[in-house]
Amino acid sequence: MQEQNNIILHHVEVNMQQPTLLFQQAGHSIYWLGITENTIFRCNVYLIVNGKDVILVDPGSRNYFDQVKSRVAQIIDPTAVTGMILCHQDPDVAASMVDWLELCPDCVVYTSPRAQVLLPHFGAHDYNWQDIEEEPTLRFESGQQLRFITAPFLHSPAAFTTYDDRSHFLFSGDIWAALMTSWSPTVIDFTHHRIQMDMFHMDYMASNIAARGFIDKLDGLKVDAILPQHGSIIPQEHIADALDYLRTLRCGTDISYPNLS
Ligand SMILES: [Fe+2]
Ligand SMILES: [Fe+2]
Repeated sequence: MQEQNNIILHHVEVNMQQPTLLFQQAGHSIYWLGITENTIFRCNVYLIVNGKDVILVDPGSRNYFDQVKSRVAQIIDPTAVTGMILCHQDPDVAASMVDWLELCPDCVVYTSPRAQVLLPHFGAHDYNWQDIEEEPTLRFESGQQLRFITAPFLHSPAAFTTYDDRSHFLFSGDIWAALMTSWSPTVIDFTHHRIQMDMFHMDYMASNIAARGFIDKLDGLKVDAILPQHGSIIPQEHIADALDYLRTLRCGTDISYPNLS
């Protein structure tokens, strides 16, 4: 595969039968793995490979385990997966953890304590996990690292995002997710994309306070792309718009209880 970096991310072309390389630099690679089903609620699974560290970001539903596994196999032996980032406990994010743990029993689950309370209900009980609030970094053998940034009530109390120091990609989970009737790998028209994000955020995200509180945590962070769990990737040219979208979002309790301040 050709080397690719974030500067040309807005030119991403997807072949549904292959993993899509989003970033590659000096042994650090990031892939979009799918899924292929043409659904309004498409789930994005990402893979980060850095030397021997092989990390799945939000591996997804059990329904797509075989497909995600075969995409991983096009890059690396699936039994070489060393970790899974589970940004909250929803089944579309985390249910396939049981299948991955069966395949890779030493795989470490990176998650928040409130998600960890619920994750064993998918059926796996005995696994290594790292509390991302207690230890907010994942350091690769190479010395590079991912940073975890909590995002309470966006939408889950357990929610967190993952920032990659190398690519400056922000894996945002359900934040900046969009329900899309016609999907493209990256956002082309942000004005239209706002409507598609509204369809998800207005119902699912807790409140404008939660959204603004999270944006404050990103202060000073160089974000070159936002990689949500649903919908299109937001490339560099739309990052300022995306931050502004969340800052001004009215959602959840703002809408349900409009008379209360
Ligand atoms: Fe969710
Ligand atoms: Fe989701």
